[in-house]
Amino acid sequence: MKKFDLSALIRPHLLALAPYSSARQDFKGVANVFLDANENPYSLPFELGIDEGYNRYPDPLQVALKKKIGKLKGIAPEHIFLGNGSDEPIDLLLRLFCQPQKDEIIITPPTYGMYAVSAAIQEVGIKKAYLKPDFSLDVAEIFRQVSPQTKLIFLCSPNNPTGNLLAKEDILQVLENFEGIVVVDEAYIDFAAADSFLPLLAQYPNLVVLQTFSKAWGLAALRLGMAYASAELITFLNKIKPPYNINLLTQNAVSKALDKENEVRHCIQILVEERKKLENFLYQIKNQTGVIAEVYPSAANFILFKTNPDYFSADTLYQKLTEKGIVVRNRSREPLCQNALRLSVGSVEENRLFCQVLEQLSQ
Ligand SMILES: Cc1ncc(COP(=O)(O)O)c(C=O)c1O
Repeated sequence: MKKFDLSALIRPHLLALAPYSSARQDFKGVANVFLDANENPYSLPFELGIDEGYNRYPDPLQVALKKKIGKLKGIAPEHIFLGNGSDEPIDLLLRLFCQPQKDEIIITPPTYGMYAVSAAIQEVGIKKAYLKPDFSLDVAEIFRQVSPQTKLIFLCSPNNPTGNLLAKEDILQVLENFEGIVVVDEAYIDFAAADSFLPLLAQYPNLVVLQTFSKAWGLAALRLGMAYASAELITFLNKIKPPYNINLLTQNAVSKALDKENEVRHCIQILVEERKKLENFLYQIKNQTGVIAEVYPSAANFILFKTNPDYFSADTLYQKLTEKGIVVRNRSREPLCQNALRLSVGSVEENRLFCQVLEQLSQ
């Protein structure tokens, strides 16, 4: 196991922080009368389409839900932090480790935008180690960017918006040789034919893995994301989070969803097949018409492709698609993504419509 001193990395004032202690955490025994949390004893009497019992605050540490998630993932609950989407742990990790106007993070553009936005909100410095032209990690460049102020490195695999997995050896090199925290964002891992980094948590105390229920599980509106890390690091995330960050509707609904793993696997299979079909179609347009210049293989539920500006710039094709009621993501202003559009894999019918419209536009 890698030698690592977590407390040396955490912002010093947070080491001694006395966290807010909620009523639901203070009293852990059995009682019949709860007059400790200024709750309303009555559930709303009118029909909201929700069950009874929402007048009480939810479990602040989501013990039952973490047990269920832990069982699915083969991880003990003390290694799991649940957030309001995985965007919440991204923000909390920045607040836990980075002093504003002093510390820095490293990101590897083109990549998910929230790492830089959360850092900017906190006045944390952002160093960029751009991906290579084939969208692989430039490990040497990452280490050129590391300074004594670098606390976090964000790696996204499969990467958004490029869709590729980062090479395992490259991520391991960063984990082995960087003294700070390495965040591996696996929001799209369920669509990839690759192993998660979760089993490596025991070996690398500086590893944080992010996952989410927003993608493969189809529960984006519920806002539930996971950060997996050492029990010590999770304790600190729990100290600085808002007390009731996961509402009870979400805890209950995700708990039910976890009983439907087979259905989720089936859905993933359909989306991966649809991704292949879309990929083939885009290649066909590329080869037959030249309207598309490049199609990038994807391990996620989206495909990045570049237009040929002799026919359409990405801006023009984006506009023409919207005129037909189809919205894709214009990524053409991201580094290495000139004239690039990102296409999410939709339902069979949505994908059919997209193909039909693009075919018409390409004639
Ligand atoms: C790579 C990546 N990480 C994290 C997120 C945030 O997901 P959520 O906050 O819905 O869990 C997204 C959302 O698109 C993403 O693409």
